[in-house]
Amino acid sequence: MSPTINIDQLFASSLETLRSHVPERLLSPKVGIVCGSGLSTLADSMRDIHSVPYSLLDGFGSSTVLGHKSVLAFGLMGPGDGVPVVAMLGRFHPYEGHPLSTVVYPIRFLAKLGIKNLISMSGMQYRTRKADLILHFLIVTNAAGALNPNIPVGTIVVIQDHIALPNLTGPLNPLLGPPISALTPRFLPLSDAYSRSLRRLVFLASHKLSLPDSALTEGTYAWVSGPSYETPAEGRFLRAAGADVVGMSTVPEVLAAREAGLEVCVLSLATNAVVIPDTYRSIKAEVAAELAGKPIEYPAEAVVSHEEVLTVGRQKAELMRSLVETVVGLI
Ligand code: 6GU
Repeated sequence: MSPTINIDQLFASSLETLRSHVPERLLSPKVGIVCGSGLSTLADSMRDIHSVPYSLLDGFGSSTVLGHKSVLAFGLMGPGDGVPVVAMLGRFHPYEGHPLSTVVYPIRFLAKLGIKNLISMSGMQYRTRKADLILHFLIVTNAAGALNPNIPVGTIVVIQDHIALPNLTGPLNPLLGPPISALTPRFLPLSDAYSRSLRRLVFLASHKLSLPDSALTEGTYAWVSGPSYETPAEGRFLRAAGADVVGMSTVPEVLAAREAGLEVCVLSLATNAVVIPDTYRSIKAEVAAELAGKPIEYPAEAVVSHEEVLTVGRQKAELMRSLVETVVGLI
């Protein structure tokens, strides 16, 4: 086996397809944006849009989740002449059955194209590389469950760190395997994965938009594979481990983006509360209490649904859109 995976042919072929759909002047996006569930209205902030369905692009899988489009959209965003951006309207998740190499392929492709920041919404070796990148930033958005009881549904959480739970349970990391290029760091540092300067811009954007203080907070994202939601015990575990929100996406893209040298910013929309009872509901205690004539009344159990996640996503899509647009304008 060759020491580097041969994805160069896929890159070349996808690029050729892009060239036939997108004018050259838009093919050097400075900012990449990954739109999560119900958040694809981000395209409404773009002008001069030229889009290509994933189905035409070699190496891209097809997104199968309700609420996701499957389109790569190039265009301009922000005041004046605008900043050239590229938005992924819909992403790939491991739970759809996609291998992690497919999940991160678009990020690697866009980085190659020249993204400079990845919104979803960063050693020495690749500082040098960074200067060569056109695409410099990646902004990633997602929908996530709130583990922290102080994070109400509808809050936007500016991610500052993550926990990749699969690291505890199995080798689920998109960077496994031979390095994709000679410049790829073998042991990627992640102490600065979530760009401090981009996080600052988010809070400055929030001020510029006069958003209430409660609209935004900071937090740590726990990545799980899904597609099942967490059990109450898993919710307690993640919360105890220091996570504020939990979701099934984003971390693979962040790892690929950092590997490629992009500055990353992640905005998680808390779409539902992960209910974490302090203790489990003891049937033993319930039966004993009943027999003693003192029945225990447990509160009704909340069950999370994908519809709930999409509904809150739609309600807050506009807020997320204006925030991302303002951040891009400030970059
Ligand atoms: Cl509660 N869990 C996970 N894993 N992902 C989510 C979620 C919960 N809510 C939105 N996305």
